[in-house]
Amino acid sequence: MIICQCNGISDRAIRKAVRDGANDRNDVIRACAAGMGCGGCVPAVEQIIDAEREKAARSSLLVLELAAS
Ligand code: FES
Repeated sequence: MIICQCNGISDRAIRKAVRDGANDRNDVIRACAAGMGCGGCVPAVEQIIDAEREKAARSSLLVLELAAS
């Protein structure tokens, strides 16, 4: 799904940018240009960043729990 209409950037591209190390919207802008235009997509970009980071944190916690058991 296209999230950033100005630059034609999909949710998949934004999620990949976060998985590759983007921590905030400025990092995402540098990585894939989502949000570098009118700014209308920024709330959606930030939601995707939060969701990806939460998913990564849950995965890390699961690995730690498995390692401790
Ligand atoms: S829709 Fe993303 S910057 Fe305009």
